[in-house]
Amino acid sequence: MLVLGIETSCDETGVALYDTERGLLADRLYSQVALHVEYGGVVPELASRDHIRKTIPLIDEIMTEAGVGAADVDGVAYTAGPGLVGALMVGATLGRALAYAWQVPALGVHHMEGHLLAPMLAEDAQLDYPFVALLVSGGHTQLIRVDGIGEYKMLGESLDDAAGEAFDKAAKMLGMDYPGGPLIAKLAEGGDPDRYRFPRPMVNKPGLDFSFSGLKTYTLNTVAAAREAENLDDQHRADIACAFELAVVDTLKIKCLRALKQEGVKSLVIAGGVSANVRLRALLEVAMEEIGGELFLPAPKYCTDNGAMIAYAGSQRLACGQSDDLAVTVRPRWPMEELPSLRGSV
Ligand code: KG4
Ligand code: ZN
Repeated sequence: MLVLGIETSCDETGVALYDTERGLLADRLYSQVALHVEYGGVVPELASRDHIRKTIPLIDEIMTEAGVGAADVDGVAYTAGPGLVGALMVGATLGRALAYAWQVPALGVHHMEGHLLAPMLAEDAQLDYPFVALLVSGGHTQLIRVDGIGEYKMLGESLDDAAGEAFDKAAKMLGMDYPGGPLIAKLAEGGDPDRYRFPRPMVNKPGLDFSFSGLKTYTLNTVAAAREAENLDDQHRADIACAFELAVVDTLKIKCLRALKQEGVKSLVIAGGVSANVRLRALLEVAMEEIGGELFLPAPKYCTDNGAMIAYAGSQRLACGQSDDLAVTVRPRWPMEELPSLRGSV
């Protein structure tokens, strides 16, 4: 089954063609970062307008590249939520309209399910259920037990900022642009890991929830003190970035191991934009080896938002006969536990 996937939930336009037999045939991503940078964050109206400009030309490109015509496509999957309502509407309206014109089924995909399944895009992916997934993006930090597609049990989540959001805010404090995660990571490479030790929030309390607001305040206070002492030079900024990054990734690691132990599970998936973080990937790689478990990671380009993950997630559900009716419905807020299971489907 050949599925066209469309992702427009935030500030990247992603499109892809995924075939359940042949794998990923083509994908394209257009990032709007340059459009939003002067505002220090994503401006929803600008995002929607840019998706309108970019989505159709990108779809044309991938269909040409893959040598695929309209008659070859068996289904259309688009991100239906969570995300920015206007941005979602662009992809959903277009996806639904194309499916109607091509007389194939259409399906609204949950963006976080797309992230969660992104490791499956690897050709040699051998991932069995159950597993624990850490979803870490700009809007979510969630630990989930996964027993199958659509069988999700929320084990813990952030009570305030998401991990990616904390990275973005820390970057801002250090005078860097949005999105700050990759910039903090780059700056932290030259930092001295022993100069500061930032707190690991909520690791001494039982449970699997996260909170990053205290760490954010701690970072802000450290930056302010350095500014006051007039010694916030490049090395000092790097040292702060390093302490911040270590605190976040260490906290994520501690909670992942706790979740695996609690659930008696040995496989861990990490996905979402922050899973592109090299230090987090390395730390978890070692930790999983120590416990004799296995870590599954999407390729770096499929950690952040992309169309391939939506085409893949959509293909799994469409192939089981799921589809939406003609109404164009998006859900800016959409709890993952509400997704239907595929168990018992054809
Ligand atoms: O999944 P994503 O592309 O979009 C959302 O669904 O939110 O995640 C974007 C988030 C941003 O907060 C960005 O700063 C963070 O992922 N991010 C990173 C890295 N790359 C992206 N955070 C830490 N280290 C990175 N290398
Ligand atoms: Zn995302």
